[in-house]
Amino acid sequence: MRLEGRIAFVTGAGQGMGRAIVRHFAEQGATVYAADINVEALEETVAGLGERGRVQRCDVTDETSVKAAFERVVSESGRLDILVNNAGIGSHDAFLDTPLEHWNRVIGVNLTGAFLCSREAARLMSQAGAGAIVNLASTAAMTGEGPSHYCASKAAIMGLTRSTARELAANGIRINTLVPGPTDTPMMAGIPAEWMEAMVKAIPLARLCLPEEIARVAAFLASDDASFITGQNVAVNGGMAFL
Ligand SMILES: NC(=O)c1ccc[n+]([C@@H]2O[C@H](COP(=O)([O-])OP(=O)(O)OC[C@H]3O[C@@H](n4cnc5c(N)ncnc54)[C@H](O)[C@@H]3O)[C@@H](O)[C@H]2O)c1
Repeated sequence: MRLEGRIAFVTGAGQGMGRAIVRHFAEQGATVYAADINVEALEETVAGLGERGRVQRCDVTDETSVKAAFERVVSESGRLDILVNNAGIGSHDAFLDTPLEHWNRVIGVNLTGAFLCSREAARLMSQAGAGAIVNLASTAAMTGEGPSHYCASKAAIMGLTRSTARELAANGIRINTLVPGPTDTPMMAGIPAEWMEAMVKAIPLARLCLPEEIARVAAFLASDDASFITGQNVAVNGGMAFL
């Protein structure tokens, strides 16, 4: 039980990787606050986890909503050991036709959301002198194979990780970027079959990643097994890119 007794907060936990991370962390002994804008989906995420899985409505783009969520964690659990900034969205926009509204929405969830949650979490972790944060980026940030707002937000996550990892190391907090390649989640559902085929062809291990494979690496990075790892990009992509 790698995460026995830990208190964790996972954003974007209604489906996909976030759901897999919540379930795996709970299996590893953590109590997990599963946060998302979609509360119905969260109920399904925590089904069967008992006290270890707690539903938390939270819009990561809304400072008031984020603060309220972390206040609940403190009042119920007294501390926070792990944050996973997993909430993320995309939007299929060609650069020349990208509306400012789409740009702001993608940056808002993927980057500002991670900032708001990290700030609240790191304040709590600093009081305790310990903690771990895992930020979800994407291989697209390195390869540029994706829309501009998405790639920009995910590259910025790597910068956020590096800056906060340096600044908060003295407070006992480790922060890393988990960089997934194409993974079989609802986010991929709208992708046309021929794109999918081309994508899988570019992956040496010749398949999509499974959300559970992301969850296991997130658990490693959040655990004491990764006690000397901070500020890093950790790629989980079947060999499609070397970071
Ligand atoms: N699926 C992939 O191939 C892939 C590849 C690389 C990186 N990623 C990244 O991994 C993370 C998880 O991806 P996924 O495929 O599981 O996504 P997904 O679309 O399946 O799930 C994302 C979840 O985030 C939630 N969410 C959206 N806006 C939110 C907000 N404002 N506040 C709180 N929650 C919000 C959604 O309701 C949803 O439950 C994302 O950051 C994504 O960009 C995904």
